[in-house]
Amino acid sequence: MSSLGKDVASPTSGHPMVKAEGVHKSFGLAHILKGIDLEVNPREVFCLIGPSGSGKSTFLRCINHLEKISAGRLYVDGQLVGYRQKGDKLYELKESEVAAQRRDIGMVFQRFNLFPHMTALENVMEAPIQVKRETRAVARERAQRLLDRVGLGDRTGHYPAQLSGGQQQRVAIARALAMQPKLMLFDEPTSALDPELVGEVLDVMRDLAADGMTMIVVTHEMGFAREVGDSLVFMDDGVAVETGHPRDVLTNPQHERTKSFLSKVL
Ligand SMILES: Nc1ncnc2c1ncn2[C@@H]1O[C@H](COP(=O)(O)OP(=O)(O)OP(=O)(O)O)[C@@H](O)[C@H]1O
Ligand SMILES: [Mg+2]
Repeated sequence: MSSLGKDVASPTSGHPMVKAEGVHKSFGLAHILKGIDLEVNPREVFCLIGPSGSGKSTFLRCINHLEKISAGRLYVDGQLVGYRQKGDKLYELKESEVAAQRRDIGMVFQRFNLFPHMTALENVMEAPIQVKRETRAVARERAQRLLDRVGLGDRTGHYPAQLSGGQQQRVAIARALAMQPKLMLFDEPTSALDPELVGEVLDVMRDLAADGMTMIVVTHEMGFAREVGDSLVFMDDGVAVETGHPRDVLTNPQHERTKSFLSKVL
């Protein structure tokens, strides 16, 4: 697998890639995120672990404004997500402005959500053509290169149904990269895969990390978190309980809740 470097946008320097300040999220009366503070630096691999229902996916969805936060501030690359600030007032961005922000953020979910009626190549070409108005020739050239790089150069004409789960997930990663994002969000990208297919997807993610992509990764793969992660946060019940270097948090957790969670999953 060759380097993914050419597809990693260089981040604007001088501020974190993601900054959350007292982020709250409620759904009706259900208070899901209870004041999340964290910073993800450019080129950092930031892992997010925690029990089911603790708010991990919700937090990721707030980062690209698929969910609106209820209080606090969330910044991506120095820009408020979903809002413009004038004085101390916040104004909601127009849908087109939100879409423009979202364009710079790649997201890969547990399920691959590929377009079933399109080949691997067409799946990767689609967003640049539709959203960025790229020519087919340019989009095709990049899609081919990205599929090569995720090890699927010989599968470009296959439809999703003709690919294994691991292959589909690698197409999904190539598809996200085709938009040349400055930030990639992964929400349990390997947990729907058969165990023998997990490694090939983690390898692609490892490559991307080595090339300097800023990544937030919700994962149950503690080995990956320990090896590839620069930071790790343990989230429980909408609170970032403990943050630190993955090795420290995983081998020497300071909080009872972290210890209890890790004793169940390690
Ligand atoms: N659209 C929604 N409306 C109401 N409640 C929601 C909505 N989305 C999420 N929730 C609730 O928010 C809580 C956190 O959900 P979330 O999906 O963020 O958890 P998670 O940590 O990602 O869990 P898992 O590990 O199972 O994926 C859950 O109790 C969930 O039911
Ligand atoms: Mg989730």
